Amino acid sequence: MSDTERHPFLDGLSKHRGAQPTCVVIFGASGDLAARKLLPALYNLAVDSLLPAEFFLIGFGRKPVADAEFKAQSAKDITQFSRRAFRADIWQRVEANMSYQAGGYDEAAAYVALKNQIEQAEQKAGRPLQLVFYVSTPPTVFEPILENLGQSGLASRGQGTALESKVIIEKPFGRDLQSAMHLNRIAARNFQESQIYRIDHYLGKETVQDLLVQRFANPIYEPLWNNHHVDHVQLTVAEELGVGSRGGYYDHSGATRDMLQNHTMQLLALIAMEQPQSLSAEHIRDEKVKLLSAIQPLNLGPQGDAVRAQYTAGLSAGEKVAGYLQEKDIPATSETETFCALRLAIHNYRWAGVPFYMRSGKRLARRVSEIAIQFKQPKNGLFSGDSRYDLSPNRLVIQIQPDEGSTLVLNSKVPGLEPRTQPVRLSFRYATTFGSNTPEAYERLILDAVVGDRTLFIRGDETEASWRIFTPLLNDWQQSVNQGMQTYAAGSWGPKAADDLLAAQGHAWRNTGR
Ligand code: BG6
Repeated sequence: MSDTERHPFLDGLSKHRGAQPTCVVIFGASGDLAARKLLPALYNLAVDSLLPAEFFLIGFGRKPVADAEFKAQSAKDITQFSRRAFRADIWQRVEANMSYQAGGYDEAAAYVALKNQIEQAEQKAGRPLQLVFYVSTPPTVFEPILENLGQSGLASRGQGTALESKVIIEKPFGRDLQSAMHLNRIAARNFQESQIYRIDHYLGKETVQDLLVQRFANPIYEPLWNNHHVDHVQLTVAEELGVGSRGGYYDHSGATRDMLQNHTMQLLALIAMEQPQSLSAEHIRDEKVKLLSAIQPLNLGPQGDAVRAQYTAGLSAGEKVAGYLQEKDIPATSETETFCALRLAIHNYRWAGVPFYMRSGKRLARRVSEIAIQFKQPKNGLFSGDSRYDLSPNRLVIQIQPDEGSTLVLNSKVPGLEPRTQPVRLSFRYATTFGSNTPEAYERLILDAVVGDRTLFIRGDETEASWRIFTPLLNDWQQSVNQGMQTYAAGSWGPKAADDLLAAQGHAWRNTGR
């Protein structure tokens, strides 16, 4: 839209017909996530006129901050982190309905004050508002926030109507099966499941949403998508960055809790589950739970299915970087893994016998998230066993980020009189097909919560099914303190033990580009 065109949001309109008049309350409003992701996401929804026409935003945090200061800081954060340029006219309309509430997360009086602010917003709107609570605080205060929302009556506002309150709960959802079950109980005591939105921002990524379409709108894949044709599957979620300023959080988490248990398992569930009965949130989530429940318990111990490691000093993007134990806020004796690789077996008719490998780590050679499905090669194929033919197994690589797209590796004859072959790539890139300015995951997810679509959020039994796989491993690691902890140089592809994990079955990680 050009700047001279009338902008629907500025005219008090929303392009989203399902959006109810809404007040979003961000708990942890002065935190990193709010600054980098949530505020820019809300701003971009305003730019796209996708926010409800009547939209209010209340920041809630421990720090006493004046409304004006909250607005000014939010404008700065948006200018720095938004994918699109800051427009003063749009921002003025958003900030006119913004305020801040200071208070302790476990302090009942703070919720009374919050309720007053909400009532003021409703007076201004001249009508009741849907309340969307976004819990983006450290996990230690999830419980008091949920309890106080329940006790103050805010949680039950509008229950069963179009204005039903909603709560978005950030990760990590628990640290193990027991704590996740506990958190689910606390959430259920104060909200109905239909009001709870457990977020995993990977589900909001365009490429992750596209997995359903790629799989189920392209019927040519279905006959191949099983243990007759698939040799193995590799899921990589690699980051180039180290822990940065998040050492305090990360050291209590580690790669397995931070990335594998949630983001990578979601990718696995979507790539391996059966076709859901419909596109409804419940049918999709039913299939994910079935798949997660079919994953076999991990073999623990030295020759088992898991490898953990920490990065040591090395080179990242040509720069010398410190090892994990030298990073800010990391104890010199830390036993937290910054890398984890797993070999998983799925016990069902489709996948029995197909290894699923997954790995994630910080300070790896490059930032890439991808799913690589490698197909079987015939034992006595026409071109097998002749060195003139450079053959690659057929492989479908779905690149989640960056350079989003997918590639199918085939073999082709090299033009010329020599009888030579070479692997070639059929490649589709989002940027060239669709342009590059796609919405951020948080934009999609916040909008979905506002309009009440839970498809891209995690159900309670889904978090528990995933924790059931990881908890025995995490307990085992905790007991066998530091035994088995490997190291890898920053800027490498991880420890040798992770290569051995695949080599044991004649496989190797894909560490090169496409
Ligand atoms: C977060 C993790 O959930 O995901 C971070 O806590 C990680 O440690 C981040 O860096 C990665 O997200 P993305 O969208 O940049 O791949």
